[in-house]
Amino acid sequence: MREPAVRTRELSVWYGQSQALHSVSITVPRGTVYAVLGPSGCGKSTLLRAINKLVLLREGARVEGLVEVLGVDVYRDHSAEEALSRVGMVFQTPNPFPHLSIYDNVAIGPRLRGMAKGRELDKLVRWALEKAALWDEVKDRLKSPASSLSGGQQQRLCIARALATMPELLLMDEPTANLDPVNAAKIEELIKELSREVTIILVTHDAEQAKRLASTGVLLFMGRVVSEGPISSILSRSYSSIIQSLVASARRQ
Ligand SMILES: Nc1ncnc2c1ncn2[C@@H]1O[C@H](COP(=O)(O)OP(=O)(O)OP(=O)(O)O)[C@@H](O)[C@H]1O
Ligand SMILES: [Mg+2]
Repeated sequence: MREPAVRTRELSVWYGQSQALHSVSITVPRGTVYAVLGPSGCGKSTLLRAINKLVLLREGARVEGLVEVLGVDVYRDHSAEEALSRVGMVFQTPNPFPHLSIYDNVAIGPRLRGMAKGRELDKLVRWALEKAALWDEVKDRLKSPASSLSGGQQQRLCIARALATMPELLLMDEPTANLDPVNAAKIEELIKELSREVTIILVTHDAEQAKRLASTGVLLFMGRVVSEGPISSILSRSYSSIIQSLVASARRQ
């Protein structure tokens, strides 16, 4: 059997003196959508950033424990960079390169990897923009700067940018939080479609979305794993009542 897409063991992350993740052990099977749930500040984005090592860019950040991505120990193995080049990320706040054109924002990944050029690259850019439900809105202004797009359009541009590199693992941090219901539904369709070939780790505050899309997942609270497994068992009660009881028991301690 193939190794899981991601496996963490006893993963702890600190920002300076403050510990954001405490001994987090999760297993993300290949070819599934895996949801990361939990209240604001519980460490969801930190977990994604620990998986792709972007957390090390934060001043004072420190990581302990094991993180295996696509079978590679990314904090110890020499092949970490190669493994992480097969991982895409859609950030919680859209972060296109503002001065680059819409086209170049999507083309930059394939160009850097030497994946395509000329007509082939045009086709790839169009494919990614169509998948991210943005093509119709930008096809006549591909040379305009990304900063000329609305927030929701920028979010879809970042989804297109991540898709264009054809990742094997896609980390999505609340990808529909800035979108209207119509575009959110399109992105959910995309996630469903992609999950046949790509493993997706989806951070979401929307329990219904997690139930619609994910088969397994994890619930975090104050940087710790509360439960991991089938989404139906994690969300056996309403999400708000789960969070309320966690907050109440933390207050009692
Ligand atoms: N660069 C940083 N420096 C110091 N503390 C940080 C930094 N980034 C995050 N934190 C802290 O780490 C904890 C986890 O933050 P994180 O962003 O992972 O939470 P989250 O679950 O993604 O929250 P949200 O749902 O609001 O996005 C929080 O207490 C946060 O304040
Ligand atoms: Mg977050």
